Amino acid sequence: MKFFIDTANLAQIKEANDLGILDGVTTNPSLMAKEGIKGNDAILNHYKTICELVDGDISAEVLSTDFESIIEEGKKLAAIHPNIVVKVPMIKDGVKAIKWFTDNGIRTNCTLIFSAGQAILAAKAGATYVSPFLGRIDDSGWDGVQLIEQIANIFAIQGFKTEILAASIRNANHIIRCAEAGAHVCTCPLDSILGLLKHPLTDIGLAKFLEDAKKM
Ligand code: E4P
Repeated sequence: MKFFIDTANLAQIKEANDLGILDGVTTNPSLMAKEGIKGNDAILNHYKTICELVDGDISAEVLSTDFESIIEEGKKLAAIHPNIVVKVPMIKDGVKAIKWFTDNGIRTNCTLIFSAGQAILAAKAGATYVSPFLGRIDDSGWDGVQLIEQIANIFAIQGFKTEILAASIRNANHIIRCAEAGAHVCTCPLDSILGLLKHPLTDIGLAKFLEDAKKM
C-alpha cells in the first residue's frame, strides 16, 4: 500500500518525506486555504514547490465544475510537473472530463466518492485513482472501511486498473483497516501516520533496554 500525506503544509510534507515512506501528496481547496494560499499564481507555485519536495504523485484539485473549464484548469495543473494528478470531483461533467484527461494522457484522481456506484463510474472513465472519503462516512454513522472493501472486491472482479485511494483518514487504525480492506493507497494527516509508530509496550521495552544497557 502506498502512503500519501493529506495536507498542503510544507513542514508536515517535509517531515513525512524525511521518514522515507512517502509516496505522494493530496491536497484540496480547504487544505490550501488553511495554509493561506490565495490567487492563481500562488496556487500553481505551491503545487510546484510540493512537486520539488516529494518524488511521487501530487494531487491538485480543479475548482471548476463545468466540462470546458475543468479541462482548461486541469491542463494548466498538469503542465506544472509530470507528477501532477488532476483531482476532479464526482459530478457528471467531472466524469466526462476524467474520460477526456484519460484519452489525452493526463492522470486523474476522482474525489468525493461516497458509494460503490460512483467508484465504478470513475473507473469506467479511466480515473487513475478514486478517493472514497471514509472518515466522513464514519462521521455520518456508517462504516467507511466497508465501502473500501466493497470497491476493492468490485475492482478485482471487474479487472479495473483504477487504484483505490482511501481518503479522509482520521487515525492510525483507519490506515490498518484500509490496508486489510485492499486499498492501494492511504492519504493521511501526519498525526495518523505517526500514530502507527506508537505502542506503550515499545516505550516500556525501550526504557528497560536503555536502563539495562547502563549495566553493560
Ligand atoms: C482527499 O484527498 C481529501 O483531501 C481528504 O482526505 C478529505 O478529508 P477530510 O474529511 O478530513 O476533510
